Amino acid sequence: MEQINVYSAEEVISKIYVEDGMEMLEACLKPYEHVFVVMDANVAMSCPAAYEMSQMMNRHGVPGMLVDVSEETKCMETVMEICAWLLENGADRDALVLGVGGGITTDMVGFAASIYKRGVRFANVPTTLLAQVDAAIGGKTGVNFGGYKNMLGTICQPEFTYICPQVLESLPMEAFQAGAAEMLKTFIIEDSGNYASAIALLKSLTDDFIAACEGAAILSYNEGHWPEVLSGRLHEMTPLIAAAARVKAGVVSRDQFETGERRKLNLGHTFGHAIESLAHKHHNDIDHGHAVALGMVYAAQLAEKLEMTEPGFAAGIEHDLDSCLLLIINPYSIQDMAEAMTKDKKAEGGKVHFILPRAIGDVVVHDMTVEEVVALL
Ligand SMILES: NC(=O)c1ccc[n+]([C@@H]2O[C@H](COP(=O)([O-])OP(=O)(O)OC[C@H]3O[C@@H](n4cnc5c(N)ncnc54)[C@H](O)[C@@H]3O)[C@@H](O)[C@H]2O)c1
Repeated sequence: MEQINVYSAEEVISKIYVEDGMEMLEACLKPYEHVFVVMDANVAMSCPAAYEMSQMMNRHGVPGMLVDVSEETKCMETVMEICAWLLENGADRDALVLGVGGGITTDMVGFAASIYKRGVRFANVPTTLLAQVDAAIGGKTGVNFGGYKNMLGTICQPEFTYICPQVLESLPMEAFQAGAAEMLKTFIIEDSGNYASAIALLKSLTDDFIAACEGAAILSYNEGHWPEVLSGRLHEMTPLIAAAARVKAGVVSRDQFETGERRKLNLGHTFGHAIESLAHKHHNDIDHGHAVALGMVYAAQLAEKLEMTEPGFAAGIEHDLDSCLLLIINPYSIQDMAEAMTKDKKAEGGKVHFILPRAIGDVVVHDMTVEEVVALL
């Protein structure tokens, strides 16, 4: 089992375990006498590895709660339900709350644990690719509030995050793509050859998927074929997931409270959030992965216009993302996106922190007004 540490100064503040299989989770839980599991109801139903895990918990008499997961239920009411359930089940200051699910679950469970009885310990078993490479690492917890994403929350580190790539076998294609975009984002921020390896694997999975769809036209790809394509090849994802987790752990160790370097993890998200919020407003179906992928292309184009990077760099990224089916046509104009960006909570004093890639593995934080961006793009 690979162990990756998150540090504050010299001290280990959180551990990440990466393991092919769920068996070692039992050993990770051994030091904790009173464990309380909060699991995404969807995961409990559809993910065989998570089901196995809940059977193991049942044998040990560990109390469990199922939560319904969506951006709408990622709110204080659900956090209060989790706290009420902990209270009813006698969770005390020595409790460990284990969140099992995607980023919505680990964000909410971490938040509930961080405020319950002024804070009890928690750990994560992330079941989406996005949560394995990003959300379940680094201690940002929270819920949506007042129409804004993640407006209430804490920074509080999990005891550990147990990453088992095999849980991804039941993950819908759209959720896998969201995680794939975040994984590529991580390797654009810091690379050791992982970007090229990830593109090669994702492209090969895409080719297998297209072959499984038997040459259907692009709009009629049957995503039902995705699990059969992915399941036999999940072990190939393990080193890439571990590499992405290492990058995130390193960034968080250097800047836990996001005063500088951690902002780099927002690469693609300033444009991406604008696209997502426009899509939400117009009832269009553009998921997070595709929005972030488009956002990374815009960030690369902006870097190119500012002569921070070689000509052709943005086209290269565009080609890579397209070959993994991560790119769609953006229905929104730069002006529409600019308006949405201005409303983004990250705009400070009229300037927005844009994260711009100078090369694969080299990004910088560049403050600009939205008007300057519109003029350039
Ligand atoms: N804390 C952080 O640092 C951080 C970073 C990035 C994103 N986030 C948050 O993460 C959230 C998105 O996370 P997500 O993409 O994991 O979404 P999610 O938790 O909603 O999961 C996506 C969907 O997949 C289902 N699912 C999860 N695991 C599954 C499995 N193994 N098999 C079948 N279905 C499964 C879920 O029920 C859900 O329907 C957002 O709310 C975002 O704000 C947090």
